[in-house]
Amino acid sequence: METYLLEWAQLLVRWLHVIVAIAWIGSSFYFVFLDSNLVPPQDPALKDKGVGGEMWAVHGGGFYNPQKYAGAPGHINSTLHWFYWESYATWLSGFALFAMMYLWQAPTFLIDTSVMAWSPAAAITTALAFLVGFWLFYHALCKALFNHPQGQAWVGAIMLVLVAALCWLACQLFAGRAAFVLMGAAIIIGLIVALRPAPASVDVSTAPVSFEEVQAIVNQRCISCHGDQVQMKNLRLDSADQIRANAQNIYQQVVVLKQMPMNNTTGLTEPERQALGRWFLAASTP
Ligand code: HEC
Repeated sequence: METYLLEWAQLLVRWLHVIVAIAWIGSSFYFVFLDSNLVPPQDPALKDKGVGGEMWAVHGGGFYNPQKYAGAPGHINSTLHWFYWESYATWLSGFALFAMMYLWQAPTFLIDTSVMAWSPAAAITTALAFLVGFWLFYHALCKALFNHPQGQAWVGAIMLVLVAALCWLACQLFAGRAAFVLMGAAIIIGLIVALRPAPASVDVSTAPVSFEEVQAIVNQRCISCHGDQVQMKNLRLDSADQIRANAQNIYQQVVVLKQMPMNNTTGLTEPERQALGRWFLAASTP
């Protein structure tokens, strides 16, 4: 009876897994298509809002006009649809399958005594530690290198070495198929947690920003290169008038293009960047 129920459960979860995975890949394809077909907006109102690209499409009898912001939008005034259930559901159903097959039936599928003869309890604990350990390490690594100028390249290089080492290790511990399913699950858990936008960019704070706050940010983050000692590109920002006169340019460089501060040497934080954006947008909308 148990085997019979397990077979059915596996069949149903396997279908769920395939279908949600199709939804995940499908939505990824749609966004890849969208990104590669965006054109810079012509309408000045869109540019001022911070829109970096838009497209027109028709589907099923309706016209669609998606717009992509170059940075975080100043404010979001309706529900934010966040595309994560596709990937979460794929991982969760995949993990359920993994648990039913490789953990529940560890002696048959997880353990290969010719590779390593150990107890199911030890093998199962090690397999789970792989997943949790990989996720925590990846998370800590991304956090540690988040503000580093070459952070992405470093994370990529370190993970490449780590994944290769873990594949080797998994093959020394588990049955062949289990080893690779386990690595797949570990990589995806890292990926979908990392794909979560950083809290700062989701925290769509709409608190008004005073000019004093703006000046404090500029004094701390900009005047080392745009002050009385050094004036990069002939730009000085060490007085209120100069900041006001260059507001549009500051908004473009800091919020839209994210070029300033140069290489973020002065460590401008994401909330500070957004505060500059909200200040400019509030000042420029009547
Ligand atoms: C490490 C030095 C450095 C820091 C810090 C820095 N900048 Fe700059 N900034 C530059 C350099 C260099 C250029 C010229 C870049 C170029 O032309 O490609 C520049 C150019 C600019 C420009 C464009 C000027 C123009 O008319 O083309 C603006 C606006 C600007 N910075 C604003 C800021 C603001 C606002 C901050 C603080 C949030 C800041 N910068 C921090 C070095 C810096």
